[in-house]
Amino acid sequence: MGNTVVSIDNLVKRYGENVAVDHFSLNIEEGEILGLLGPNGSGKTTTINCLLSLLTFDKGDIKIWGKEMSPDAYDIKSQIGVVMQNVAVIDTLNVYENVDFFCGLYIKDKATRKQYVEEALEFTGLTEFKKQKPKKLSGGLLRRLNIACGIAHKPKLVIFDEPTVAVDPQSRNAILEGIKKMNKAGATIIYTSHYMEEVEELCSRVVIMDHGKNIANGTTNELKSSLISREKIRIGLPDKSPKILDGLKEINHVYKVKEDGDDVVIKCDGGEHNLVHVLSYLTDNNVPFGRVTTELPTLNDVFLEITGKELRD
Ligand SMILES: Nc1ncnc2c1ncn2[C@@H]1O[C@H](COP(=O)(O)OP(=O)(O)O)[C@@H](O)[C@H]1O
Ligand SMILES: [Mg+2]
Repeated sequence: MGNTVVSIDNLVKRYGENVAVDHFSLNIEEGEILGLLGPNGSGKTTTINCLLSLLTFDKGDIKIWGKEMSPDAYDIKSQIGVVMQNVAVIDTLNVYENVDFFCGLYIKDKATRKQYVEEALEFTGLTEFKKQKPKKLSGGLLRRLNIACGIAHKPKLVIFDEPTVAVDPQSRNAILEGIKKMNKAGATIIYTSHYMEEVEELCSRVVIMDHGKNIANGTTNELKSSLISREKIRIGLPDKSPKILDGLKEINHVYKVKEDGDDVVIKCDGGEHNLVHVLSYLTDNNVPFGRVTTELPTLNDVFLEITGKELRD
């Protein structure tokens, strides 16, 4: 640890009046799986494109492995693998030839190149499809081809920009498992997504982005334990008269009671045995109730508490 792979300092990127990336800073250490989580339009792809010198930017400093990044920094770029949000493969080449083409940009030795291409096809489960043209592939397989092209040269830093959008669950799991394996083998990973469940499952650290800003940064557990909301109790409650709702609000550690369809949602700021206290109150007052569930906070709650809006779209 302690080897900084990426350092982005005060990055600003404007499109006219629109500030797509707004004084964004981020350091990534070797061996991390860094999740860049944010709703659509929050600036994830723009940040990645600036990081790779594919876009010019208005302000800021970007270093990779301690070196200034630039469009012609070939030695740095050869160590980076990129899997873009929009699939970028060559329609006239078959699966094998596509992977071979992209691998060949960096790997000149013929035998090594052949071995790497075959390993990438194996890794993404594409070996049996190697003669097929991209147009014949399903959406999930096409995504996997996009990944094989990005990683075949065994880069030390791999960037995935929303690789699971519009992918079937089976391919999605294969992609996530593949990323974990790559990381175990030593690669540092940047993973952007607007799906909090994926980021929770995969990433060792999460940066939450909104309107181009870095609004939260930490492990999933750190982010969750910074919340006021520690527990949510959901109860099916036919009678939602103000008297009952006010009574619930009076309970120790309950700070919010909200109606949600047939249910009420009760938010508690820490404390123990909240559920017991809530249910005792209802039974003591002869209030009938239905299904009861409790939920621990999610990254969506983190986002909600900081921004006042839902991460889910
Ligand atoms: N080529 C472009 N021209 C103008 N505006 C753009 C362009 N690309 C992105 N934007 C704007 O920049 C903001 C960030 O977009 P983007 O980085 O694609 O977000 P994300 O990847 O998080 O969905 C959005 O407001 C988007 O409309
Ligand atoms: Mg994007």
